[in-house]
Amino acid sequence: MTESNPREPLGVLFVCLGNICRSPLAEAIFAHRTDELGLTPQLHIDSAGTGGWHVGKPADSRSIAVGRRHGIDVPSVAREVDPDEDFHRFHLIVPMDESNQTTLLEWGAQRERVRLMRSFDPALAGRPDREIEVPDPYYGDGDGFERVYQMLDAATSRLIEHVQDRLA
Ligand code: 4NP
Repeated sequence: MTESNPREPLGVLFVCLGNICRSPLAEAIFAHRTDELGLTPQLHIDSAGTGGWHVGKPADSRSIAVGRRHGIDVPSVAREVDPDEDFHRFHLIVPMDESNQTTLLEWGAQRERVRLMRSFDPALAGRPDREIEVPDPYYGDGDGFERVYQMLDAATSRLIEHVQDRLA
C-alpha cells in the first residue's frame, strides 16, 4: 500500500509594498516554473503587500504585460500582509527590498522565515541587503518592469532549489 504524504504544503509568500508590481510577478514566475516541475501540489504560493492602497486590484498592467511577453500569466489580486495568518501559514517569506523586510520583522515575522528575494541569486552572494533589492518600478518607465523581471528570473532558479531541498 502506498502511503499518502501527510505533510502540509510548504508555504511561500512573496512581499512588496503595493502587491501590484513586484511580488505578483515574483509569485507568477515561481508558480509557473514550479508547476513545470510538478511541484504545485506540495506548495502553497501567494503574494501580499505591506501597504493597503491597492487591495482588491489586479496586478499593474505593466507587470501583466512583461509576464505575458515571457509566457507567464500574472493573475494576482492585491491584498495586505496579515501577520496573524501569514506568519504561521507561510514557511518562507520573501520580501523584495530591505524596507519590506524590516516591516515584516517589526510586525513579528520569524527571522529565520524571512529572506530577501535576490539573496537567492548566486551572482549576488555575500552582498549586503541594501545592494540586492528589487527596486520599485511603479513610478518609472516600462523598462523598469523588464529589469525587475530579469532580477526575479535570476533569483528564482536558486529559490526553487532551496524549496526542493526543503521538500526532500
Ligand atoms: P510594488 O510597487 O510594491 O512593487 O507593488 C508599488 C506599487 C504602488 C505603490 C508603491 C509601490 N504605491 O505607492 O501606490
